[in-house]
Amino acid sequence: MPHWPRHGRIEGPIVMIGFGSIGKGTLPLIERHFAFDPERFVVIDPDDSDRKLLDDRGVRFVHLGLTRDNYREILSKHLTQGGAQGFCVNLSVDTSSLDIMRFCRELGALYIDTVIEPWPGFYFDQARGNKARTNYALRETVLAERRANPGGPTAVSCCGANPGMVSWFVKQALVNLARDLGDKGEAPKTKDEWGRLAQRLGVKGIHIAERDTQRAKSPKPRNVFVNTWSVEGFLSEGMQPAELGWGTHETWTPPNASFHDKGCGAAIFLNQPGANTRVRSWTPTARGQYGFLVTHNESISIADYYTVRDRDGEAVYRPTCHYAYHPCDDAVLSLHELFGRAGEMQSAQHILGEAEILDGIDELGVLLYGHARNAYWYGSQLSVEETRALAPYQNATGLQVTSAVLAGMVWALENPKAGIVEADEMDFRRCLEVQRPYLGPVIGVTTDWTPLAGRPGLFPEDIDESDPWQFRNVLAG
Ligand SMILES: NC(=O)c1ccc[n+]([C@@H]2O[C@H](COP(=O)([O-])OP(=O)(O)OC[C@H]3O[C@@H](n4cnc5c(N)ncnc54)[C@H](O)[C@@H]3O)[C@@H](O)[C@H]2O)c1
Repeated sequence: MPHWPRHGRIEGPIVMIGFGSIGKGTLPLIERHFAFDPERFVVIDPDDSDRKLLDDRGVRFVHLGLTRDNYREILSKHLTQGGAQGFCVNLSVDTSSLDIMRFCRELGALYIDTVIEPWPGFYFDQARGNKARTNYALRETVLAERRANPGGPTAVSCCGANPGMVSWFVKQALVNLARDLGDKGEAPKTKDEWGRLAQRLGVKGIHIAERDTQRAKSPKPRNVFVNTWSVEGFLSEGMQPAELGWGTHETWTPPNASFHDKGCGAAIFLNQPGANTRVRSWTPTARGQYGFLVTHNESISIADYYTVRDRDGEAVYRPTCHYAYHPCDDAVLSLHELFGRAGEMQSAQHILGEAEILDGIDELGVLLYGHARNAYWYGSQLSVEETRALAPYQNATGLQVTSAVLAGMVWALENPKAGIVEADEMDFRRCLEVQRPYLGPVIGVTTDWTPLAGRPGLFPEDIDESDPWQFRNVLAG
């Protein structure tokens, strides 16, 4: 067993919002790595199915859902009790990350979440229009809050595996690539220097390339949506428009793409659901696969972070960036079933607990492409077996997320006055150092695969042979 370090002491109360698959998995990591007062650890969730885990430990459980009307009252009560700086760990669905983050900062508490979540109703509101339902729009609300209230207590936005850890992987992958390509430049320190490094190395784009091979012991029943993490979370993001950071090397735009006229300008969206949009990508296990172009915050934040601008503010370099997600096979089957009925949701949902999983890994990494080594994948290949040995109450997907939450909490404690931050802006070395023991094998591999591999085959295709790394060649429809 590794020697588990204590990373710090949380002096004030800890309030965890949401005790689903990620909340349950984060609990033992908080217990293991922080000193805190157990009497001031509170968990809030409208669902009490797992409260025994809390009762056994003497952790207080508040059995209700936060709403627009009650969140201030409930949070101020629990986050201020007993004095000292509190820490709010938001791992729920159906609560507004922005409102809760803002209020925590008003109270002087630290804050972390893994996604910018809205109050219920946002994701499926047809009247709102697709542009307003994007993650771009959600992220802009957090950026506006930061501009309005710079500095102050640290609030870490979107710090799970992805969004979150993958931003730290991108930096490590760039450092590795710079070494492999013999780049002589200084190690980057600022956002601008990171963008210039990616530009200098010739990185045209980045896939968040994931293959989840975890298999359930029993086959998926019909009419049940099965996944290895929140079904509700996956369905919400999967029914948002497909979204991607839009690189400066792209010469073709999908006919159903839309641009944004306000905000950072780093991303576009397609007028189709991300969970029904296939892209070609590569992971070490799959060696070429279809993934879903599900919208994610990091597709936008990474593209934005690495944008290099000229003196007039025009973007002269930006990598394309998007998710290419092959979820577990049961989830692929669940999506097929769902879209076969025009998006009608299954009557039941199920998240596979580690005990229900036969075997498999969550292979989650970043594929940096278009440079002199063609493409380089850097990421974690955590298996469910290794996960069982490392920490309780979670599968491999969960541990990649919860250990990123742990790393983000450590960073926030060590940097308590950093204001609102995204993972791209945190110290990637420190965060990966904290997280590394939980990631299984972490490898970097180059590949000669491109989205044109084996194409065209028996049938003519609309491809751009002049540049394999055009999004036109990546998009499968
Ligand atoms: N960044 C990442 O890598 C990453 C990965 C996985 C999950 N996530 C996000 O983390 C969150 C939790 O995921 P999960 O797999 O644990 O989901 P889950 O569905 O298992 O759990 C969500 C929990 O939130 C609770 N909840 C619902 N409404 C609430 C309310 N109003 N107030 C308080 N709690 C409420 C639910 O009862 C449930 O227990 C989701 O938003 C998900 O999108 C992020």
